[in-house]
Amino acid sequence: MVVVAILAAGRGTRMKSNLPKVLHSLGGRSLVERVIHSVEPLSPSRKMVIIGYQAEEVKTAMEPISGLEFIEQTVQLGTGHAIQQLLPHLQGYEGDLLVLNGDVPLLRQETMKNLLHTHQENKNAATILTACLPDPQGYGRVFCNAENFVQQIVEHKDCTDAQKQNRRINAGIYCFRWQNLEQVLPYLEANNAQKEYYLTDAVTQVNPVMAVDVEDYQEILGINDRLQLADAYEILQQRVKEQWMMAGVSIIDPSSVTIDETVELQPDVVLEPQTHIRGNTVICSGSHIGPGCLIENSEIGANVTVRYSVITDSCIKAGSKVGPYAHLRGHAEVGEGCRIGNFVELKKTKLGDKTNVAHLSYLGDTTAGSKVNIGAGTITANYDGVNKHPTQIGDRTSTGANTILVAPVTLGDDVYVAAGSTITENIPNDSLAVARTRQIIKAGWVSKKKKSQQ
Ligand code: UD1
Ligand code: CA
Repeated sequence: MVVVAILAAGRGTRMKSNLPKVLHSLGGRSLVERVIHSVEPLSPSRKMVIIGYQAEEVKTAMEPISGLEFIEQTVQLGTGHAIQQLLPHLQGYEGDLLVLNGDVPLLRQETMKNLLHTHQENKNAATILTACLPDPQGYGRVFCNAENFVQQIVEHKDCTDAQKQNRRINAGIYCFRWQNLEQVLPYLEANNAQKEYYLTDAVTQVNPVMAVDVEDYQEILGINDRLQLADAYEILQQRVKEQWMMAGVSIIDPSSVTIDETVELQPDVVLEPQTHIRGNTVICSGSHIGPGCLIENSEIGANVTVRYSVITDSCIKAGSKVGPYAHLRGHAEVGEGCRIGNFVELKKTKLGDKTNVAHLSYLGDTTAGSKVNIGAGTITANYDGVNKHPTQIGDRTSTGANTILVAPVTLGDDVYVAAGSTITENIPNDSLAVARTRQIIKAGWVSKKKKSQQ
């Protein structure tokens, strides 16, 4: 049996932020959410989050995650003091306690399984995750004997110059047999450079304590400042892009592309440079996205082409072509085989199959059927300053260039609208609507004018 405790009470002074450190976002998810995710496969019987600095804010942000218990550490006197807060809550508990720092977001689930397994197999009092870092600056240094049993953990600030040479560091991830930890926790002292109660002191007071090295040290990087946050993002991106490339996605110039982990891509998708795919986006097989696209929370069907465009909260069906320079937002839905051209904005607009909006248009709150042709510069006037109004357009209808559709308005099937019309009334099926002033020709007007000016 294992209980998980996550340390999330600290302020994160080095972030220089009003937002608590553990709530800082890394690729769309907070640091602490990522930590929780890394222990999910262990099926912990309880997940306890120790909160303190801006406790209410942290709690509110984490409320959507189910099964968490929040324990308040009202003053932050160190990581050991944080774990002391668990004493009244875990009385009589006989299993293991897994402790994770809330600011170590890149842990792999396999690593956590491996740590727990080693701990339980060897019947250790504690097992800690360690790594050899090229630059161990800032981390606690771990000193072991020849059998890999931990003798001492010394915080960077408490290290002598000789101790600082040790590159083996404490990841801040520990597995304890609770009954052993419970005995020593009340007796921690704050005799150190930071005048804090260190959890690392409790580690060396139980016995035996084994160290488990992670192979890939990037996993255990802690986030203390914005530089480390940016580094972590790069590592995360590298992982995500490698995974998709191995699964059959082509990424041209990966360093200029970003993909959230929540995104799903099918084989033979091609992502061109300067493309960013975010949120719950799905892109189906054979689609070609980029260069220069931002796609967020959207569904892109198979064999779709999107170039230099921004698409949010929208859906594009198979075989459609979008861009360059299109903006789809607010639940736009584009049918199969459509063409959405340059400088077109679609907001909360649904288009049937084989419908074209090829140039310079704004359609808002519009439903159009299939095989519709929206002429260049067609604009829906959907907002009267207070309310938004709908526009309906039937199948096979064409609007001429520079048509204004003043909503609410309905155009039937097989309708033609003459170029330059301002449509304020509904148009029945099978009709031509002309709504513009008649052209006047004044023959010889120019030469007359010139003469009168002489
Ligand atoms: C800690 C370890 C260090 C390790 C490093 C790994 C100690 C004493 N040191 O140092 O050996 O190398 O992590 O990243 O544990 N927190 C609380 N309450 C507090 C203080 C901190 O909940 O009173 C939380 C913080 O929110 C954070 C975590 O504990 O999530 C670690 O605290 P931090 O101050 O970042 O510890 P480090 O100095 O990084
Ligand atoms: Ca830290």
